[in-house]
Amino acid sequence: MIYLDANATTPLSQEAGNAMSAAMAQFLANPSSLHGRGQAARAALEGARRVVLTAVGGTGGKIVFTSGATEANALAWHGVLAARREKHLIRVVTSTVEHPSIGAQVKALRESGVEVVEVPVDRHGQLDLAAFAHALQQPTTLVSVMAVQNELGLVYPTAELAAMAHVAGAVFHCDATQAPGRIPLDLNALGVDVASLSAHKVGGPTGVGALWLRRGQGLQPLIAGHQEDGLRGGTENILGILGMAAAFSTLPARLAHMPVLRGLRDALWAGIQAIGPVQRNGDVAPDLETGHVLNVTWPNVDGARLVRALDLEDVCVSAGAACASGTQEPSHVLLACGQTPREARSGSRFSLPHEATAADVTAVLELLPHVLARVQRP
Ligand SMILES: Cc1ncc(COP(=O)(O)O)c(C=O)c1O
Repeated sequence: MIYLDANATTPLSQEAGNAMSAAMAQFLANPSSLHGRGQAARAALEGARRVVLTAVGGTGGKIVFTSGATEANALAWHGVLAARREKHLIRVVTSTVEHPSIGAQVKALRESGVEVVEVPVDRHGQLDLAAFAHALQQPTTLVSVMAVQNELGLVYPTAELAAMAHVAGAVFHCDATQAPGRIPLDLNALGVDVASLSAHKVGGPTGVGALWLRRGQGLQPLIAGHQEDGLRGGTENILGILGMAAAFSTLPARLAHMPVLRGLRDALWAGIQAIGPVQRNGDVAPDLETGHVLNVTWPNVDGARLVRALDLEDVCVSAGAACASGTQEPSHVLLACGQTPREARSGSRFSLPHEATAADVTAVLELLPHVLARVQRP
């Protein structure tokens, strides 16, 4: 199997697997229990919290464990906005290329009458900073922009956006799901107020993530309960959390390996260009992207058909984002880049995991001409 779909999920790392197996071999009691076993589980939980906090440069702030970044995004938006009771005073600024979990928040807020401005991107997926500055000329409650775009691998200027948000009086939320291990991440230095994280994009298990809060940042919970300092009710997923902490402890090694992935990705792109006409989506300068993603469109090739044809050869890639590829919907990100619905259905995303090898790239480049010939419409 050749797995080039790291932005959908990453293979479970040995570190996370080992941590979870070791934890499973013991009895982990409820961290809220007063007895010794419960307190041991509590100590493990708090240790994991410190590891994650340190790994993302968030010391001094708070980690609230959640079921993943989708919940963290929902908690961030709900938690910041619920404190404002007067709906007509709420104003939110975000972008047109956020993850669908943010898109769902935009839709729900608009339906309840709240003003949400979605700042556009250019044809390569870069944020229009002038439009962003214009949108922030009015007092704003919340600004929410992702750190790394999941379909294109673009890196957005988080520190600059946070500073602009603060001038407009807004809280700055960053969906940092795709950032850890791909770009240096120092939440304190970036000036972010609230950040969403997920374990399974960096070799951790699915179904666990976190919301980071800067010291002093208030939040209303989505789920009431005494756990997580009253900010997220429900017995903590301690096995998942231990796996997440183990995965986050590998961030420096993952980051150090990114130049290797960039080399492999560049070799893949060079080989793909040699096959025939192709367009690269999110074609920006190397310092504006992570280096592990290649999003391309071949003429007369439907993205989902190509994914299925490559799957028959045991190669895993995505058409746009994983969450959208179960459906035949065009990618909202490629639409935001100005592509037609037909064009936006044609993108294919290769996202290299930490474990990718030169042999993977060579094998895919050997297969692609045959697979493309099979799926290309006349
Ligand atoms: C940018 C971004 N935000 C949020 C999510 C959702 O993360 P999770 O699967 O942990 O809910 C994803 C996952 O695809 C993502 O790429």
